[in-house]
Amino acid sequence: MDNPKEALLEKLQDKSARVAVLGLGYVGLPLAVVFAEAGFHVIGIDPDERKVATIGRGESHIQDVSSLSVKNLVHNQKLEATTDFSVLSNVEAVSICVPTPLRKTGDPDLSFILDATDQLARYIHPGMVVVLESTTYPGTTREILLPRLEQQNGVRVGENFFLAFSPERVDPGRTDWTTYNTPKVVGGITSACTEVASHWYRQALQTVVSVSSAEVAEMAKLLENTFRMINIGMVNEMAIMCDRLGIDVWEVIDAAATKPFGFMKFTPGPGLGGHCIPIDPLYLSWKLRALKYTARFIELASEINTNMPRYVVGKVQDALNEHGKPLKDSRVLVLGAAYKADIDDLRESPALDVIGLLYQKGAQVSYHDPYIPSLNHDGMDYHSEPDLMAAIRQADCVVIITNHSSYNYVAILENAKLIVDTRNALGKLGKDHPKVVRL
Ligand SMILES: NC(=O)c1ccc[n+]([C@@H]2O[C@H](COP(=O)([O-])OP(=O)(O)OC[C@H]3O[C@@H](n4cnc5c(N)ncnc54)[C@H](O)[C@@H]3O)[C@@H](O)[C@H]2O)c1
Repeated sequence: MDNPKEALLEKLQDKSARVAVLGLGYVGLPLAVVFAEAGFHVIGIDPDERKVATIGRGESHIQDVSSLSVKNLVHNQKLEATTDFSVLSNVEAVSICVPTPLRKTGDPDLSFILDATDQLARYIHPGMVVVLESTTYPGTTREILLPRLEQQNGVRVGENFFLAFSPERVDPGRTDWTTYNTPKVVGGITSACTEVASHWYRQALQTVVSVSSAEVAEMAKLLENTFRMINIGMVNEMAIMCDRLGIDVWEVIDAAATKPFGFMKFTPGPGLGGHCIPIDPLYLSWKLRALKYTARFIELASEINTNMPRYVVGKVQDALNEHGKPLKDSRVLVLGAAYKADIDDLRESPALDVIGLLYQKGAQVSYHDPYIPSLNHDGMDYHSEPDLMAAIRQADCVVIITNHSSYNYVAILENAKLIVDTRNALGKLGKDHPKVVRL
């Protein structure tokens, strides 16, 4: 067939197109599995040899992906993993799922995207579709990827090579909305790019929503995450204001949530965590700063959210004070270290800041998390307490940071001397209880 677009559409349709996923992390591995389960031959490429070896053994290193599915797919030669980028020479469809963190300065760190793109540029060839999944600022696909990929090995965008952005929406730990059934937004550099990339994704995912450009798709992801970040900031400030007013914020939120329209429930907590919500909006504000515009909502919410760990430590200090104890030398047990309930992801977790601040103030800090056996923060190693109830009995104060559902909150309440509950994990049990201070 002379027309490269039609030829590629056909290969995607009959799944003879070979797929590569660059980056086998929280986003990449589930996506690789979904493509492989749909019938594509998928090669995961990751410089991390341990992850590649784990998949080679038919095991999953991601909580949301079962080892059984990886094992079956590897066994049936639908999924393989490698550290060798040269396999891209024989691949028609590439999805890039590499990290997009912030630098210490708070600016976007695109080094992983640049590395992956430069590797891809060496092996790119006509008849290829490339989709960037990593969350980033609007313009990245066109300004950063396109110039590095186009003109290499005779590829011309929209003609014999197709480039698009499609934001990943995975919510780790969630089982009702997965990579497969969460609608997927796709926006290309040209309309042909949107068409080819959407066609590819439609073969494996339940719902694909095509938009008119890569920038719309990039910005849609940032709107979603900024929406969450700002609402969490607002409700955190609501908690601080209710505290000053002597009003129970949790009861206020439940009351407001009875409104059947025009209200969406967000809950306060010890601060933002995870790879997305604390970071992605800052990609947007960074980009806008370059255009001499200040993203005020983002900056304000970020300030409030960033201060929450300090606010929580203040609550611990006040609660101990009420019990005639200084924070210094008191034993404080942090319950839950993961950034949210029932997952093993520690990235950007507010528990780390709470632990660090408690340590700085001279408390004897320990933690327990069924999902996180050990952690390092500010050069200090911590190990999850082996005997939860013994640790609770010994602690002068227990701070609930993550409301894992496996915890027996009745037993925790019975055994603790004092609890600061930042998640309302104790619910009605904690309300007006003499041992409990709530956010
Ligand atoms: N984790 C989430 O919940 C989530 C949700 C939505 C979007 N995202 C976005 O998806 C992207 C990936 O996030 P993640 O959570 O999967 O990250 P991750 O750190 O879990 O995985 C990224 C993987 O990329 C690999 N990698 C690094 N450099 C590479 C390169 N040059 N080529 C190939 N692989 C490389 C790393 O070794 C790692 O295995 C980020 O932009 C993130 O913001 C994440």
